[in-house]
Amino acid sequence: MKSDRLAGKVALVTGGGRGLGAAMVRVFAAAGAKVGFSYARNEEAAKALVDAVAAAGGQAFGYPVSVLDTPGTDGMMRDLESRFGPLDILVNNAGISQNLPLPLLEEEDFDKVLDVNVKGAYLTSRAALRGMMRRKKGVILNIGSLVSERILEAPIHYTTSKAAIDGLTKALAKEASRHGVRVLCLAPGLLEDGLGKNLPEHRLVDYLKHCALGRVGTLDEVAKLGCFMASDEASYMWGATVVADGGV
Ligand SMILES: NC(=O)c1ccc[n+]([C@@H]2O[C@H](COP(=O)([O-])OP(=O)(O)OC[C@H]3O[C@@H](n4cnc5c(N)ncnc54)[C@H](OP(=O)(O)O)[C@@H]3O)[C@@H](O)[C@H]2O)c1
Repeated sequence: MKSDRLAGKVALVTGGGRGLGAAMVRVFAAAGAKVGFSYARNEEAAKALVDAVAAAGGQAFGYPVSVLDTPGTDGMMRDLESRFGPLDILVNNAGISQNLPLPLLEEEDFDKVLDVNVKGAYLTSRAALRGMMRRKKGVILNIGSLVSERILEAPIHYTTSKAAIDGLTKALAKEASRHGVRVLCLAPGLLEDGLGKNLPEHRLVDYLKHCALGRVGTLDEVAKLGCFMASDEASYMWGATVVADGGV
C-alpha cells in the first residue's frame, strides 16, 4: 500500500536482497523513499527486487557489497548519494546465523557471526554517520532480535551479536544525539521467512506455545513498523529497542 511517510528520503538497507531487508526495501519505496540496498552474493534475488520496486512505481538499486568491505561500503555510499541524493536513513539489517549448540561451535563460526552482525553494523554506521553529522540529521535503524531480550533457546553467537546490537544502539543514540542523528533498534520475534525459516521443529513449537498471537510474524508487518520508526513521525523515539513478537 502506498503512503508518503518517507517522501523525499534516501535510505540504505544492508542485506536487503532477501528476507526482512527486501521487505523493508519494498515498504520504504512504497512510502516514497529512494532505496539502495546491499547483499552478499544472491544477484538474482537483488535484480528481481529492483524490478519489483520499479513495477510498483518506486526506485531501488542493489549493490553486491559485504558489510565487512570498508572501501566497497565507501564506494557504495558515494554512488548512492550521486544517484539518489544525501543519505537520510540507514538500516543495519544484514545478519547471519547457524543453528549450532555451543560445544559444536567452532571459533571461526563465532567470529563470522559476530563480524557480519556487529562489526558490519559498526562499519556501515561509521560510513553513513560522516554525512549525517555534517547535515545534522539522519536515522540509523539497527535490526536486533527478540533473542537478546528473553531467555530463549537460540544460538549463542547469534544471541551475543544481537545483545551487542542493543548496546551499540544505546551508546550511539547518546553519542549521535549531539549531531541530530536518531538511532533505534527494532527487535523482531520469529518471522515467516529468512533466518527463522530453517529452525529445528522443537524451537518453532516452543515459540508458538509462548506467543500470545500463536503465530510467527510476517516480513511485511515488521517492515511497516521499521518504516514508521525511520520516519519523522517517530521523532521522540530515541535509543529505544522496540520488540515486535506477537507477545512472547
Ligand atoms: N527472519 C527472522 O525470523 C528474524 C528474526 C529476528 C531478527 N531477524 C534479523 O533480521 C535481519 C535479516 O534477516 P533475514 O531473516 O531477512 O535473513 P536472510 O533472509 O538470510 O537475508 C539476509 C540478507 O543479508 C545478506 N547478507 C548476508 N551476509 C552479508 C554481508 N556480509 N554483507 C551484506 N549483506 C549480507 C544476504 O545477502 P544474499 O541475498 O546475497 O545472501 C541477504 O540479503 C537479520 O539481522 C536478522 O538477525 C530475523
